[in-house]
Amino acid sequence: MGSGWILNWVLFLGFLSSCVYGLGVNWGTMATHKLPPKTVVQMMKDNGIKKVKLFDADENTMGALAGSNIEVMVAIPNDQLMAMNEYKRAKEWVKTNVTRYNFTGGVSIKYVAVGNEPFLSSYNGSFTNITFPALQNIQNALNEAGFGDSIKATVPSNADVYATPSNNDVPSAGRFRSDISGIMTQIVQFLNNSNAPLTVNIYPFLSLYGNDDFPINYAFFDGGYSITDNGIAYTNVFDANFDTLVSSLKAVGLGDLPIIVGEVGWPTDGDKNANSGYAYRFYNGLLPRLAANKGTPLRPGNIEVYLFGLLDEDAKSIAPGSFERHWGIFKYDGQPKFAMDLSGQGQNKLLVGAQNVQYLPTKWCTFNPNAKDMSKLADNVNYACTYADCTALGYGSSCNNLDANGNVSYAFNSYYQVQNQDDLACNFQGLAMVTTQNISQGSCNFTIEIDSSSSSLGPSLWGLAYLAVLTVMLL
Ligand SMILES: *[C@@H]1O[C@H](CO)[C@@H](O)[C@H](O)[C@H]1NC(C)=O
Ligand SMILES: *[C@@H]1O[C@H](CO)[C@@H](O)[C@H](O)[C@H]1NC(C)=O
Ligand SMILES: *[C@@H]1O[C@H](CO)[C@@H](O)[C@H](O)[C@H]1NC(C)=O
Ligand SMILES: *[C@@H]1O[C@H](CO)[C@@H](O)[C@H](O)[C@H]1NC(C)=O
Ligand SMILES: *[C@@H]1O[C@H](CO)[C@@H](O)[C@H](O)[C@H]1NC(C)=O
Ligand SMILES: *[C@@H]1O[C@H](CO)[C@@H](O)[C@H](O)[C@H]1NC(C)=O
Ligand SMILES: *[C@@H]1O[C@H](CO)[C@@H](O)[C@H](O)[C@H]1NC(C)=O
Ligand SMILES: *[C@@H]1O[C@H](CO)[C@@H](O)[C@H](O)[C@H]1NC(C)=O
Repeated sequence: MGSGWILNWVLFLGFLSSCVYGLGVNWGTMATHKLPPKTVVQMMKDNGIKKVKLFDADENTMGALAGSNIEVMVAIPNDQLMAMNEYKRAKEWVKTNVTRYNFTGGVSIKYVAVGNEPFLSSYNGSFTNITFPALQNIQNALNEAGFGDSIKATVPSNADVYATPSNNDVPSAGRFRSDISGIMTQIVQFLNNSNAPLTVNIYPFLSLYGNDDFPINYAFFDGGYSITDNGIAYTNVFDANFDTLVSSLKAVGLGDLPIIVGEVGWPTDGDKNANSGYAYRFYNGLLPRLAANKGTPLRPGNIEVYLFGLLDEDAKSIAPGSFERHWGIFKYDGQPKFAMDLSGQGQNKLLVGAQNVQYLPTKWCTFNPNAKDMSKLADNVNYACTYADCTALGYGSSCNNLDANGNVSYAFNSYYQVQNQDDLACNFQGLAMVTTQNISQGSCNFTIEIDSSSSSLGPSLWGLAYLAVLTVMLL
């Protein structure tokens, strides 16, 4: 074997382990059928992903991350913020969900996210007064447990915690939103005193969504539109949005507070601007900029960024829009959707998918063409779509071109898969039937769900349980 082979091998290994410095992913789990946590962790390792942000501190997830060397941001969901206003409960949380994992081969926790976008306008102030006390209690409990230097509490905030006046929409005019500016000022002062970062979620897609006047090129990183602010040219809304926060911080005397981008990404279905082509274009612009440590005009340099998200989540609320279930850089089953290069070198190719995924049998539920009574059709479709995911059927989405029967079949199949292909879930008052023929059409995939029945117990344990039952039956 020549040295060329060895060199290639070394380059290959180098590629496997290189991901943009500071880059992480969000691992959300609002799916009806989840991949086994170990499979997801292996997938992250296979793609060189070294940081992950969670939305809770689920012990199966944490167990799978143990020993992986992946740095973790664990989280306290909004519905637990009230409890964390009591210091004793905050200490218990830290003991159970942080201290417990600090052992050799344990979980490398770096941050605790206190709440998730608690100041979102649509929450009507529900969490406004309980977020700051929770943040203080958690950081103080971390300090008391001896983790003060290594683990920092932060608040992942929606980008609507700051804004610009409508008559002067430039980054330098950024200020915290007036109804929460007092609270935000206290929070960022506390973060500064704890040497902790503020976390913000920035979504160019949302700037575009529902705003037909938004210049589409400004949502991406390849030029075609710019604004000027005090002589600085902004060519993309990500930079402009980030610097609006920098200006808001400057206005309260903390212009140098570290900022983490907790979520950024592009969805691939559920809206006319949500597709793999645009997602490819977005990441193909974002990742090389991060790799080159470009930063933003007001904050040149490295930015710690978490992509949203790792996997599609078919049980997420679609109140904000149908695209909510399609943010993954991987599909629900851990298979890559489009080419990208997490090392930011522009060598885009499909990421390494999840290995050994177990699917349900190759069966679909379809509209029964011989059905007689159509009067209940609409009710049944509505029922299916209430309990399963029909977001791909909407305007501009991947299954929007189906004919009427195709629409019905899509809805029925979606429900049947969510119900683990239970025969009773493919009846719909005689309107449906099971088929083994792949009824996918063009770009519209009629999916087969993951078999998640064995994900809590490993296959070997199931085997043992089965053997035990068999033994008892034979006796
Ligand atoms: C630890 O985290 C889990 C998962 O988020 C949560 O359900 C549990 O209540 C937390 N434990 C304590 C003692 O707060
Ligand atoms: C907030 O208020 C609006 C309008 O009053 C209401 O429709 C919505 O359900 C409220 N949301 C929450 C989370 O309370
Ligand atoms: C938060 O506290 C302030 C001051 O105590 C009070 O005026 C306001 O009504 C509270 N907001 C909510 C949503 O409870
Ligand atoms: C965390 O674990 C390490 C290694 O086991 C130990 O040296 C360290 O003291 C622990 N830290 C705390 C705060 O318990
Ligand atoms: C920020 O923190 C530093 C060091 O902890 C401190 O010297 C400074 O006064 C703080 N700034 C503000 C505005 O509180
Ligand atoms: C299929 O369903 C979608 C979404 O409900 C609807 O917009 C479309 O018009 C339907 N197509 C037909 C042919 O019924
Ligand atoms: C069904 O067909 C589609 C293409 O039309 C394909 O992408 C998909 O993998 C097939 N599904 C199965 C389970 O074979
Ligand atoms: C369609 O879904 C199947 C699993 O049900 C998956 O194996 C296949 O890759 C998907 N095809 C496309 C084109 O998304």
